[in-house]
Amino acid sequence: MNKPSAKPHILVARKVFPEVLERLGGHFEVDHNQADVILGVAGLKARLADKVGVLTAATDPVTAEVIEAATSLKAVCNLAVGYNNIDLAACSQAGVMATNTPGVLDDTTADLAWALLMASARRLPAAERWLRKGDWRGWEFIQWLGTDVHHATLGILGMGRIGQAVARRALGFDMRVIYHNRSPLPPDQEAACGANWVDKESLLRESDFLVLLLPYSPATHHSIGAAELALMKPTAHLINVARGGIVGDAALIAALRERRLRGAGLDVFEGEPTVNPGFLELDNAVLTPHIGSSSRATRMAMAMRAADNLIAALSGQRPPDLLNPEVFR
Ligand code: DGY
Repeated sequence: MNKPSAKPHILVARKVFPEVLERLGGHFEVDHNQADVILGVAGLKARLADKVGVLTAATDPVTAEVIEAATSLKAVCNLAVGYNNIDLAACSQAGVMATNTPGVLDDTTADLAWALLMASARRLPAAERWLRKGDWRGWEFIQWLGTDVHHATLGILGMGRIGQAVARRALGFDMRVIYHNRSPLPPDQEAACGANWVDKESLLRESDFLVLLLPYSPATHHSIGAAELALMKPTAHLINVARGGIVGDAALIAALRERRLRGAGLDVFEGEPTVNPGFLELDNAVLTPHIGSSSRATRMAMAMRAADNLIAALSGQRPPDLLNPEVFR
């Protein structure tokens, strides 16, 4: 008969690199989900019944119901910097530590914001689709005209680490950079990325490219809706690499369709992975499937960071990225 393992039992809720399972296996008895079936509330409740820790992703709803059912649970370690999939209040109430992965994905996500910005400005996906279809009959002087990025005004809504990384990249394009945050950055940080704080209305009115980097919460739901879009220049481009729900997708589709906004680069959507079919008909929307942090090196760093958090949490140490310090005693 197999002796029950003395190691603490944990769950890794989504498919991860084998190296991560190997590392965790040195500390824990690991139940994994390499088949990558989305577990949902019911699946998480069933799989967490006997677990003290879990590695979750943004797709795993760690709701109050899940926390209440997982009576042995001590730590939820998210494989993401965003943690709107976790009911933090429910975790704190139950004494469950929650962590995220800040810092390790800033540059990779800023790179994707720029990829979408450039692709939208120069209409790359639509031009490429046209070429592949065999529609290119010859070079024309007035053909696939785009928008200049250099010397334009870059606006950033939400100026945390990723916003600052986006701003620093604009220095090479000689852009004017403005941002809006609840409070301005300290002057040395502003200087490092050459950005100036403005109120939200000025940000909307003056940006040629507006990059959204707010965390999602009920307070930021539809931060960009019909009223905000109406303030933007009809020549502007909107880039969202943060979370679906920050933008009202129906309002954005209407603005793009009616050319009240020139273009959009979107990595995240309301209700993803379902994408509002209105986007699919638009040639002035560049769409990617939530891949902001998806380079091999960064996803590995995120997973190892989440593993660090879990190992610390379950060995009595304070996890480096603890979101609810009040539960750590
Ligand atoms: C994050 O880290 O929040 C990314 O969006 C992955 O979910």
